[in-house]
Amino acid sequence: MNKNPVRQFNFRRPGIVASAVVMIAVVFAFSSCPAHTPAAGIFVYNESDPFMHEFAEQIVRQAKGRFATTLYYANNSQLIQNEQIEAERAKKSDILLVNPVDRLGAFAIIRKMKAENVPVIFFNREPLAADLALWDRTFYVGARPEQSGQLQAHMVIDLFGGNPDAPNEYDRNGDGVIQAILFKGEQGHQDAETRTTEVLRSFEKTGWKVELLGMEIANWNRDEAYSKAGSLLAAWKPALELVLSNNDDMALGVISRMRQEGWFKDSNGNGRIDQKDASWIPVVGIDGIADARESIAEGYLYGTVTNNSLQMAASIVELTEMLLGERSGQELSVPLTDGKYIWVDYQPYISR
Ligand code: BGC
Repeated sequence: MNKNPVRQFNFRRPGIVASAVVMIAVVFAFSSCPAHTPAAGIFVYNESDPFMHEFAEQIVRQAKGRFATTLYYANNSQLIQNEQIEAERAKKSDILLVNPVDRLGAFAIIRKMKAENVPVIFFNREPLAADLALWDRTFYVGARPEQSGQLQAHMVIDLFGGNPDAPNEYDRNGDGVIQAILFKGEQGHQDAETRTTEVLRSFEKTGWKVELLGMEIANWNRDEAYSKAGSLLAAWKPALELVLSNNDDMALGVISRMRQEGWFKDSNGNGRIDQKDASWIPVVGIDGIADARESIAEGYLYGTVTNNSLQMAASIVELTEMLLGERSGQELSVPLTDGKYIWVDYQPYISR
């Protein structure tokens, strides 16, 4: 078949030439009409959260050339986020991608979008199942928090030698018990609650004795963890054998404080913090943000559990395409569970 219809014109027959010219004009007129580019509003609870910042950038990057995006940060205020959603809806976006400030705020968003028939994909802050059930065009993309708590515990168990009856030299005082402190994320956040209970439960279930000397809520935040670490570290300095953190950013705040208080010395001067040094104890986080991977490479942070925002962003983009009618449910790289959820696995990450 000739792919170029212009070559088929017969210029010796004026009638045909005239109608061909009209046809070309019509085709041209249609093709010069701007086609509707699908658009998504992306709403993120807080710009100063480094994990969410990386996550949002991944979504924008991966959506490029597939649908238009406008990114909003809500400065940790549900009120501001609601206004941003209103403003975006006035522009007639086709879909909303929402990281709610308050997971209970999802209820009002779902009701409103259902009335307007605009689908919503929530991510990272999980709405209540009852709210998601209000409409079949609402979804959640995230990771199972219990898995991150379990992987964090197993990372520590491996470091301490794997045998709960005979922990190795990282049990510094040799009493068979790991003395620990814990930094918790935001109260009420599904990840903070479940990671905390699950990491402790995993030690217990495998026969490990962990003595929790103290716990601070530092709202996922590096500066808050840095300042709240002060009194805990001062109180427990000689006894401390482990620092557990619900995320990397808080772990990095605690490490800054620990460095000031005399932990993490490069005693042999090899330019790297050595695990065998008497001033080293394990600190473990969750997320795998760039700063955490760097800290692991330098020898400060022992390990993290990767909260795979790259894959979650890919899944959000694919699900958006599915809701725009451009992809089938069979073409999702991580399939839907219960028609509503995409669960992305966590992975342990330590220095090799
Ligand atoms: C991450 C935290 C982040 C929080 C935001 C969690 O999954 O681990 O680093 O601050 O989500 O909602």
